[in-house]
Amino acid sequence: MGHQVTGVDIDAAKVAALSRGEVPIAEPGLDTLVAEGLGDGRLTFTTDLGALSRAEVVVLCVPTPTGPEGTADLRAFDAAVDSLSTILTPSCVVAVKSTVPVGTTARTEHVLNRPTVSNPEFLREGHAVYDFLNPDRIVIGAVDADAADRVAALYDGLPAPVLRTDPASSELAKYASNAFLAVKVSYVNVLAELCERLGADIADVAQAMRLDPRIGSAFLSPGPGWGGSCLPKDTRALLHTAAEAGVDFAVLADAVAANHHQHERIVAKVREAVTGSADGTLDGLRLGLLGVAFKAGTDDVRESPALAVAARLAEAGAVLTGYDPGVNRNDCAAGVVQLVDDVTLVAKDAAGLVLLTEWPEFRDLDWAQLADLTDRATIVDTRNLLDPEAVTRAGFAYWGLGR
Ligand code: UGA
Repeated sequence: MGHQVTGVDIDAAKVAALSRGEVPIAEPGLDTLVAEGLGDGRLTFTTDLGALSRAEVVVLCVPTPTGPEGTADLRAFDAAVDSLSTILTPSCVVAVKSTVPVGTTARTEHVLNRPTVSNPEFLREGHAVYDFLNPDRIVIGAVDADAADRVAALYDGLPAPVLRTDPASSELAKYASNAFLAVKVSYVNVLAELCERLGADIADVAQAMRLDPRIGSAFLSPGPGWGGSCLPKDTRALLHTAAEAGVDFAVLADAVAANHHQHERIVAKVREAVTGSADGTLDGLRLGLLGVAFKAGTDDVRESPALAVAARLAEAGAVLTGYDPGVNRNDCAAGVVQLVDDVTLVAKDAAGLVLLTEWPEFRDLDWAQLADLTDRATIVDTRNLLDPEAVTRAGFAYWGLGR
């Protein structure tokens, strides 16, 4: 900690904004950190790769989105590696923080002809600063012990176990972790469906599971499906890697299929809640969406389950208005959803409301006022966020998941 850091990006507008201390993403505490770094001269941003010529460690954080057939698209990553090859000093160590398929670190080491270390990142969006400073683990995958030491030293002072391993295990650990989280959420989402059929309550079932430390307490909340810029992309890439290696990873493929099923299931529930029938038509009905971000605490709508559900509702003919406290309607391409910045506009004349993102502030909305504004006071709460009794008292017909 206390390093001298240069951030290089090909996006000149982003570099200019960051150099002025303007952080383009919603991450609590990040603007303060950036301002401090800029203020005391320890942090600079530039588009000039040459600025890395004296770097002791270069950390590659280039995006690796989904490419053809679910593979990780390494074009931006490879371009960055190529452009580094003539710049770095022989003693520079390269750390790969991008999520990359097994073998990429070894390939990078070969291309750059200098020690390269796999060092995946496990932080959550919306908690980036906290998670970076309080990691559960630091994983270092390297062949060269000295290079591993130098990357580990970047994190000196952070209270986390450091796992040293080979590059392949480190690369796979990143995919394995995200895919496991996806399986866990799909598992609980299917369980919620089962609860509805059997007259059980998913809240109690999940709570009983949480109290078993072998299962763990996190990632057992049912919802409209898992999304975001990481879990969907990384499950696809891991499935592709497994198929290429000749391994049948059916449990993961099923979790992905269950996630699509979850989107359909939410649409079916909305149809039944709003029309009173499993075959009722949504054609021309106005629906209000509470939340479009892929989870609370972020402004990110990439692969948002809320938008996956919205797309299906729109396909069924529904007319959609959406409100999200974290998403600015001018910054976001929410596609079929007309975003508004006043929650009452979402409720006005709506045939029903669908809560899709678990923003805690939704609990404190004036539900009686919203019920009055709607045409049919019905709400489908896909996150089981609200107190059913309170919302029912306010005049709504309440539908949750797995209850
Ligand atoms: C995820 C991982 O949690 C991080 O550890 C990882 O570093 C990151 O991807 C990454 O690879 O960069 P993130 O994309 O921020 O982080 O999202 P999560 O907090 O994992 O949530 C993923 C999705 O699962 C969201 O749509 C969320 O609403 C859903 N979810 C999560 C549930 O539906 N139920 C739960 O109980 C938990």
